[in-house]
Amino acid sequence: MQMNYDEQLMKIDEAGLMRTLRAVEPQESGSCYFQGQKMLNLASNDYLGLANDKALKQAFIQQFETNEDWCNFGASSSRLLTGNNKLYDEVEQLLCINYKAEAALFFNSGYHANMGILPALTDKGDLIVSDKLCHASIIDGIRLSNAEHVRFRHLDYDQLSSLLEKKRSKYKRVFIVVESVYSMDGDLVDLQKLIDLKEQYDCLLYVDEAHAVGVLGETGLGLCEQENVTEQIDLLIGTLGKAYASVGAFAIMNHTLKKLLVNKARTLIYTTALPPVNMAWTKFILERMPDLKSNRDQLQKLSAYMQTALLSKGYDVHNSHIMPVMTGSNKVAVQLSEHLHKEGFLVFPIRPPTVPVNTARIRLSLTADLQLSDLERLIQFIPDFKI
Ligand SMILES: Cc1ncc(COP(=O)(O)O)c(C=O)c1O
Repeated sequence: MQMNYDEQLMKIDEAGLMRTLRAVEPQESGSCYFQGQKMLNLASNDYLGLANDKALKQAFIQQFETNEDWCNFGASSSRLLTGNNKLYDEVEQLLCINYKAEAALFFNSGYHANMGILPALTDKGDLIVSDKLCHASIIDGIRLSNAEHVRFRHLDYDQLSSLLEKKRSKYKRVFIVVESVYSMDGDLVDLQKLIDLKEQYDCLLYVDEAHAVGVLGETGLGLCEQENVTEQIDLLIGTLGKAYASVGAFAIMNHTLKKLLVNKARTLIYTTALPPVNMAWTKFILERMPDLKSNRDQLQKLSAYMQTALLSKGYDVHNSHIMPVMTGSNKVAVQLSEHLHKEGFLVFPIRPPTVPVNTARIRLSLTADLQLSDLERLIQFIPDFKI
């Protein structure tokens, strides 16, 4: 029987899964105000610490004042109508140069990209094979597609290989869909293994680099740059809302795929474009990204420290800017986050359906504007692993 809305809310609450919206005011040096208290912010995806960098903002504002066409706060229509301001072209050209790619296409967000691309490029008779821990936006894109869908266990390439062996010949096109750095676990995909499989079974490889762009690779292009495999990826998605401190997302691909997406991707066609002011900020950050190596190095130093510290407490974590402190129980995750708030650390409990049942956790998100001493203090308040 269908539950009414009050009953649904009661059930959510009983399961320790109630979510609420709370105001956070980010400050410099990795801190923020939350519920009237100044805290260190370990909950944002501002991995390079750019979002509250005063000098960077001032430099942008200076350029802004001399570029009248940037000073526009609404795009007024879709990119297919009058919303396609020339900054879109400049940003896409810059992305093509950086990735040495044929084409780049900009979307309003990573959610829009993942929701729009797969339904546009797949049809009946196609198959999508995705990692079990792919992000909600990828799952929703797959749901909108007419292709069949099957999942493989997280990072289990043997299972992926046997699925492809069994199923490949029955389908016209097959997409392998993965993330490069998993958003809730911080672990990395093995791109070379996937490229081998894609070639062996004649598939298309779709890699969401949302949590890797800006952070990984010599110039911040992502795991594909770090592994020197950019050209072998058919669709590479990067989001601007995380390390780039902006909003929007890009997809790197060939000319044909871009042309098709401009004609078929509903989340590109049927939504108002991003305003010029935002595209100008995106371009400004993109131009500086190769030079932000010291931010990437600082983040790497913090990640290495935190990995050692959490491993010594019994947690299974990777050398990554995303560190899950597993509690298993939803309620324990909530209690631990509240305890850390009292000690001045802003963290949030991550619970189902964002992560699988019984794998609730605190997600520590490291950013380059934190100091080693901040993490030395934080680690004292994290209990030893026990589930
Ligand atoms: C892997 C992945 N892809 C896409 C998105 C969505 O990106 P955006 O915030 O730009 O919508 C997220 C957001 O957290 C993500 O983790």
